[in-house]
Amino acid sequence: MNRRIGILTSGGDAPGMNAAIRTAVRAALHFNLEPWGIFRGYHGLINGELQPMTSRDVSGIIQRGGTILKSARSDLFKTPEGRDRAVDMLRKHNIESLIVIGGDGSFRGALSLQEKGINVLGIPGTIDNDIPCTDFSIGFDTAVNTVMDAVNKIRDTASSHDRAYLVEVMGRHSGYIALYSGLACGADVILIPEVPLDLDEVCSKLATAVDEGKTFNIIVVAEGVRPAQADGNGSPAMQIGRYIESKTSLETRITILGHIQRGGAPTVRDRVLASRLAYYAVELAARGVGGKMVGEVDQKVAAFDLAYALAQEKQLNMDYYRLYEVLSAI
Ligand code: F6P
Repeated sequence: MNRRIGILTSGGDAPGMNAAIRTAVRAALHFNLEPWGIFRGYHGLINGELQPMTSRDVSGIIQRGGTILKSARSDLFKTPEGRDRAVDMLRKHNIESLIVIGGDGSFRGALSLQEKGINVLGIPGTIDNDIPCTDFSIGFDTAVNTVMDAVNKIRDTASSHDRAYLVEVMGRHSGYIALYSGLACGADVILIPEVPLDLDEVCSKLATAVDEGKTFNIIVVAEGVRPAQADGNGSPAMQIGRYIESKTSLETRITILGHIQRGGAPTVRDRVLASRLAYYAVELAARGVGGKMVGEVDQKVAAFDLAYALAQEKQLNMDYYRLYEVLSAI
C-alpha cells in the first residue's frame, strides 16, 4: 500500500484553492503517495468525511473559485477532544501526512496535529494576505482584481455625481486588500487598520479637494478599521460616511463589497502560486518532512517552521502606503 496523504481546505475559501488541490493530488500520485480528500476542513475530518482521490477527480477545476473539498470553521476542533478525534480518524485511515490549505487559524490547528505526530504541511490560502513567510497568499491577487473591477464601475457612476463614494473591502484585521486595490484604483483616501485614523483630517482633505474643484472622491476602507471619532453604529464605511456628511458639505454613498471578493475565477498569479506551493508541500511530505508551511518569498518557494511562522506578524509594506500618500496629495 502506498503511503497516504490527506488534503483539506479550511477557514474562508479563496480563489486558487482548487488549483492547489489539483496540484496536491497530482503531485501526490507523482511521488507515489495515495491522495485522500477530506471534506469540510477539520469539521469533516472529525466526522470521517474523507475519500481517496484520483487525477480525474481534479480535472476541470483549475479555473474555478471556491474549493471542491468545501471548507468550514470548526469549534469542536478547537477543543482537545475534537483534536484527538481528528488524529484518531487520520490514524484509522493510515494517513501519515496532511496538507492544510487555509489561513492562520487553520495553521494553528495544523500545528496542534503536528504535535500529536501527524506530518502537517500548511499552504497559505486566504484573500487577506495576512500570513507571514510568504509575499502573497493564494486568493489575494484575485480578490484585489475583483475589488478593482468593482471600483472601476463605481468610478463611472461617481463621475456623474458630486459625492464621496466609500468602498469597504475585506481583510479582517489586515489592510492589504484595501491598500493594494486602493493604489490600483487611484483612490483618493485609503483607510487601513495599520495606520492611525484621524477622521477630521480625512474630512479636511476632502473639503479642500472640493474647494479645488474635485467633483467626486473614492475612499477605500478596510473592514478592520475602527473609527474612534464615529458613532460605532454599523460597518466602518457606514460610520465614516455619516461622519463625513456631518462635517462637510459632501453627500456620501457606501458600497460594502463583502463575499464577492472571495469568488470568481482565480487569476494567473493565483493559479501559478497555488500550483507551485502545493507541489512543494507534497514533495516535502514525500520526504517525510512535516511541521512546515510553504511560501513564496522573492519568487522562490521555501519552507518555514509552522511554529516560527505563527509567531511572526505579517508586516504591511509601507512603501505602498507612502506611494499612495504622494499620489493622492496632488
Ligand atoms: O479571512 C477571509 C475573510 O474573507 C475575511 O476577509 C473576512 O473578515 C472573513 O473571512 C469573513 O468570514 P466569513 O465568510 O466566515 O463571514
